[in-house]
Amino acid sequence: MNIFKNKTDLIAHMDSLKSEKKTIGFVPTMGALHQGHVSLVAKGLQDNDFVVVSIFVNPTQFDNQDDLEKYPRTLDTDAALLEEISKDRIVIYAPTVDDIYGSNIASTHFTYDGLEHEMEGRFRVGHFDGVGTIVKRLFEIIRPDKAYFGEKDFQQLMIVKKLIEKHRIPVDIIGCAIHREKDGLAMSSRNVRLKPKYRLAAPFVYKTLNTAKEKFGTKSAKKVTEWVETQFAKHDLLTLEYFIIADVKTLKAVKRKSNKNKYRAFIAVYADDIRLIDNIALN
Ligand code: PAF
Repeated sequence: MNIFKNKTDLIAHMDSLKSEKKTIGFVPTMGALHQGHVSLVAKGLQDNDFVVVSIFVNPTQFDNQDDLEKYPRTLDTDAALLEEISKDRIVIYAPTVDDIYGSNIASTHFTYDGLEHEMEGRFRVGHFDGVGTIVKRLFEIIRPDKAYFGEKDFQQLMIVKKLIEKHRIPVDIIGCAIHREKDGLAMSSRNVRLKPKYRLAAPFVYKTLNTAKEKFGTKSAKKVTEWVETQFAKHDLLTLEYFIIADVKTLKAVKRKSNKNKYRAFIAVYADDIRLIDNIALN
């Protein structure tokens, strides 16, 4: 397994793959890999000759220092998991902060036609500047043909599509379905940090999304939102940060439903100090 810790070596390796006309898939991650990541890598291997997996906990996209410090870092286990999938067609890029940022650990400001002001952008100030900065830098280093992003971070997926359109980065962005635990909890690297009683409570998030979806068939977005807020107000362990039913194109909260538009419900919840996000297609 090829593991690169610095971009100079990786760029040279990518140059040689490109000169052999190999196609490159890219799966950006922050490590602590789970089956959701594995499915992105598997899709990448189906579509391309090689897949680069980046493993980098990007400091500039964290709005909470504690979350950054406690984010799981499990490079050896991650590398072993990837090695089980393929020994010779996966390349790992696990840079240091210095390799990416040098002495200036800061993000660039990006605009994404307003997508950045909704939901995660509103509640995690600067988050999408950090995501834009790292994803653009990784695209420049790796120069993939296709890049794979999970729909759990649906807003991030939309923002990355906007980023490549605005900056004319020649890569196909492939969105992949959310992977869930058997009890419905969306897979996330942060899940390993949930204390047992919060882990047991967490599937309530997806259960509520499903009931919200059913209700959306007959009720207004406002009524469904109020219902969800009430469910969480009664819950002892989970604290709702936001629940929004939004138009999938603009990500703006829906005021009046129209059969012509597609909607999705988005949710962010705190289980103790762990922030969980999830979403579901409504129509
Ligand atoms: O989704 C993630 O894990 C991160 O936001 C990403 C895309 C790897 C950028 O750091």
